[in-house]
Amino acid sequence: MPEKIIIFDTTLRDGEQTPGASLNVDEKLQIARQLELLNVDVIEAGFPFSSRGDFEAVRAIAREIRGVQIAALARAHFKDIDAAWEALKEASQPRIHTFISTSDIHLKYQLKKTREEVLEQAVAAVKHAAKYCSNVEFSAMDAGRSDLDYVAQVFTAVIDAGATTVNFPDTVGYTIPHEFGAKIKYLVENIPNIHKAVISVHCHNDLGLAVANTLSAIVNGARQAECTINGIGERAGNASLEEIVMALATRKDLFDFYTEVVTQYIYPTSRLVSKLTGVIVQPNKAIVGANAFAHESGIHQDGVLKEASTYEIMTPTAVGIKKSSLPLGKLSGRHAFQKKLQDMGFYLGDEELNRVFARFKDLADKKKHVFDEDLVSLVETEVIYKSVPEHFKLLELVVLSGNTVKPSANVKMEIGGVVQGPYSTFGDGPIDATYRAITHLAGSNCRLLKFSVSSITGGTDALGEVSEGHVVTGQGVDPDVVTASARAFVNGLNRLHFLKAGGPRRGKPEEL
Ligand code: KIV
Ligand code: ZN
Repeated sequence: MPEKIIIFDTTLRDGEQTPGASLNVDEKLQIARQLELLNVDVIEAGFPFSSRGDFEAVRAIAREIRGVQIAALARAHFKDIDAAWEALKEASQPRIHTFISTSDIHLKYQLKKTREEVLEQAVAAVKHAAKYCSNVEFSAMDAGRSDLDYVAQVFTAVIDAGATTVNFPDTVGYTIPHEFGAKIKYLVENIPNIHKAVISVHCHNDLGLAVANTLSAIVNGARQAECTINGIGERAGNASLEEIVMALATRKDLFDFYTEVVTQYIYPTSRLVSKLTGVIVQPNKAIVGANAFAHESGIHQDGVLKEASTYEIMTPTAVGIKKSSLPLGKLSGRHAFQKKLQDMGFYLGDEELNRVFARFKDLADKKKHVFDEDLVSLVETEVIYKSVPEHFKLLELVVLSGNTVKPSANVKMEIGGVVQGPYSTFGDGPIDATYRAITHLAGSNCRLLKFSVSSITGGTDALGEVSEGHVVTGQGVDPDVVTASARAFVNGLNRLHFLKAGGPRRGKPEEL
């Protein structure tokens, strides 16, 4: 009988630790809803003690998402655990996840504690958490570099104290698959009460081995995999959920394990996470990258046309990538449009659908065919990014550009309900001129960090920063690339304004 692997998704916690990725409460809720559709077993919603924003997000998710366990992270401190429980207490299936480092290097330089002190603190933390809830996970941070007998001793003690899951993180992505698997096997064989807890692993990708290490751990006795959508997370990221799930599903001949993930939701979830966090998926990323199912060479194309399995080890539809045989056009009706969106995994409310449909009609007037990618962009701009109030609105944009004129832009905006402009200025190019004019009208001192244009509709992503250290991502879509760029910039300004006005933001715990 195949055994179940528990999928513990930490996109909203470790994933949000990706440099530059910050999510507000609404965005976290959207991702949590999508993770529920994806049918992961546990959603780690955040680290409530670390910031007000994280606390609110965990509480909102705990209140709304009923079909999945909701976990909250807490250091092995009572005040962290109290905050985690306060945020979690309305969840239908709460889990407190407490952690402390066990490696000598962390004990010596970071915690400045002895092994005995850490053991005592771990046990006290688990006992404290267990008073609140029967579902307690304990993580031995930097376990991958810890003395294995010591980890076994700590796990034995925390299981006695009430831990129901013991997590073995490779926090710095240092281990190698056969070595990591052997460590898990050792724990299975040397922890007397291990049958009372689930062994979990949490692998970082510093050597590009996070998924391989996770699979090796599973073969050797781990039954929970901690992972993130698109593999995002601290530094080089975490083990990627979609890769673990699809490896287990594709190689059933080797793995006698299954997950309950609804794989058809993988791609829509990947898109949502990428767009909301601003972390772009590399084209050659396994499973969800733009090239994951693209066949370039003539020999490969020939094979795939004759029989897809010649060069495809899984089908794109298995992970929710659907290509339309019939693109929509300007004569397509609202019903066909709604059906099409649902086929792509987007279930919109009436008001949202009307808004997206109106934008679709505008686009269809300008473009002969509207493809799946266009629809994804429209939904993303009209629904997903609308969660931030529109303090800044772009009303008019006129640009002059060419090889014989100095590029200029003329911009009119509405800011806080008041029309500002038009204001004209020159720039190094039409987009530079546009950004200068918007920045002037908005009275902003923000700095553009990264700019990218993607997708056939001319969607753009722009990453901007202001002096206080906020980093935000803005997106915009329009058939005209300069207008799309302006929309992206204005979207970024709105996010920045939302953060500065006290909207939730990610904070860093002082002592991590
Ligand atoms: O990488 C790590 O060790 C962590 C723990 C908090 C589980 O993220
Ligand atoms: Zn981690």
